[in-house]
Amino acid sequence: MKFEKTTWLDSVDSTNTYLRAMLEADPSIPSGTVIAAKEQTAGRGQFGRTWLATPGQNLTFSFLLKTEVDLAWVPSLPMAIALAVSETLSAFGVNAQVKWPNDVLVGNRKICGILVDNIYSKNQIVLISGIGLNVNMPEEEAEKIDRPATSILIETGVTQQVEVVLDALLKRLPSWIGRWSEGGFPEIKKDWIACAAGLGHRAIVRQRLRKLEGILEDFGENGELILKEENGQRRMVWTGDLETNGSVA
Ligand code: BTN
Repeated sequence: MKFEKTTWLDSVDSTNTYLRAMLEADPSIPSGTVIAAKEQTAGRGQFGRTWLATPGQNLTFSFLLKTEVDLAWVPSLPMAIALAVSETLSAFGVNAQVKWPNDVLVGNRKICGILVDNIYSKNQIVLISGIGLNVNMPEEEAEKIDRPATSILIETGVTQQVEVVLDALLKRLPSWIGRWSEGGFPEIKKDWIACAAGLGHRAIVRQRLRKLEGILEDFGENGELILKEENGQRRMVWTGDLETNGSVA
């Protein structure tokens, strides 16, 4: 894939919502369209949560991907994106881990979240991927978030230009998305396993109506999590909020 020149907006509700409206107005906008915003007034996260980012401090952007891949591969796209984010972070001196299915962590603190909206279209898969990456969030702001959060600034003590971080990420995303487009999750599995948080540890996956517990044993062909439950049975988990307590299995 190839990215178009980034459109920077000063303020928008959500870059995902904005890109979706652009697509509805003109379905022919190219794959690789990128919308970034200095400020989001209604940033969206997973499970209907809000995504908080102080204006100007952090990276919030979305890109469009039109692809012909197997529909079953779609849930693992955020995993390919998370690997690109993790690789980019190491270029800024941050050693990050990826957390199933769509987060990037440093220790147990979240530095990046990914939200992929699947737009239904007759003959193509159309996806809007939104990425929120904490760049210059200071400790006082991170403490206001209801879950442990961090940023490049907190981890390294160095302020980065948000535009520079975006360019560095846009340089790395095509090769990860290219690999994923060719072979789905199996193509990136080795890299995922090498930096996946919680593998081999006790895990809880919270879903809307239930809580699953077990050992995070592996990831399946399409990126689904494989949980080994107390009774020895293996359960494939496709969605949910993963918590690992760090204890070794
Ligand atoms: C999550 O971890 O819950 C996903 C967070 C995704 C946030 C990004 S910021 C850019 C894009 N626009 C949004 O409204 N959300 C995504």
